[in-house]
Amino acid sequence: MKTRSIPTIIGAAIIATTAGGFVAVAAYGADNGNTKAAASLSAVPNSERNVNPMVTPAADTTTPLPEGETIAKGSDCFSCHAIDQKIVGPSFVDVAGKFAGQSGAESTLVDAVKKGHVGTWGNVPMPAHPELSDAKIKEIVSWILTLKKPQAAAATTGGKKFTYTVKGKTVSTSFPIFQAGTDKVTPDVFRGYELFNSYCFRCHGADADGGSYAPNLRNSLNNGMSESTFLSIAMTGVKSKGMPSWAGFFTPHQIRAIYEYTDARAVAVVGQGTPKH
Ligand code: HEC
Ligand code: HEC
Repeated sequence: MKTRSIPTIIGAAIIATTAGGFVAVAAYGADNGNTKAAASLSAVPNSERNVNPMVTPAADTTTPLPEGETIAKGSDCFSCHAIDQKIVGPSFVDVAGKFAGQSGAESTLVDAVKKGHVGTWGNVPMPAHPELSDAKIKEIVSWILTLKKPQAAAATTGGKKFTYTVKGKTVSTSFPIFQAGTDKVTPDVFRGYELFNSYCFRCHGADADGGSYAPNLRNSLNNGMSESTFLSIAMTGVKSKGMPSWAGFFTPHQIRAIYEYTDARAVAVVGQGTPKH
């Protein structure tokens, strides 16, 4: 049975009421051979998988998209790729830059997406996509090959640091924790709090405090885990150790919000409980 779309995420969906009183829906369970549950879940379209009313993804824009982009959005591609930014895999603009105009580029890339690939861009593997027809993959790949780097290389917002003082110590993050001029956290940090306490808390502990099943992610970040490693592990999972893959379930924006919340907790700027928002 081919249920690649979210093979490692879900064995079950558990509904629990948290101390805060809101209903949290946690989907978890590594690839434990529970193909029945996986099969019934894979029958649910991506758009309907985020069942927690508090954490439904933001609505898409209404501008009509190229066919290939639409198919990619309906699959798991954007969990790991963005158009102009490396996430877990290379940006699609970089893929186009490397392959466009090369003979056989399209069939090479169709093959890579279909069967999975590793080694061209690093040592993180891309999973296979047996559930997508060749025609659909071709449509996505030919769209990717049309992409161009944005003219002005304004791409790097990177490098910017936000500093905070906690108990006399200065800490910094790569994103703002608070809305300018207030003590309210940004919508992203708050969204990250909601998502963490809906989907990650069961193994990693409520409010990222650590649990008995999985590493304390505040320690991971304080011990030097980079943002990109955090995002890669969260999207790819560590199947053999029971860490689910969240590719196809979360958008990069949602995983980044979870990263921001966890990092804000790691540097102790945000405390336990519901952050002011
Ligand atoms: C779990 C993360 C993940 C998902 C999901 C994913 N990719 Fe990838 N993708 C990667 C990684 C990592 C690489 C780099 C592989 C390598 O180094 O060869 C990659 C590479 C690629 C490449 C370049 C291949 C090459 O030979 O250089 C293309 C094209 C691509 N992905 C398209 C897609 C499309 C289309 C989808 C959705 C149908 C998709 N990816 C889904 C992680 C992912
Ligand atoms: C079913 C339990 C479970 C759930 C749910 C879960 N994880 Fe994990 N996670 C694990 C386990 C177990 C590990 C350790 C894997 C290993 O030993 O390599 C882990 C490792 C990680 C790591 C690497 C930490 C390190 O120090 O190596 C990150 C990052 C991570 N998880 C993020 C998340 C995020 C984000 C979520 C929620 C979206 C999440 N996890 C949900 C079980 C889980």
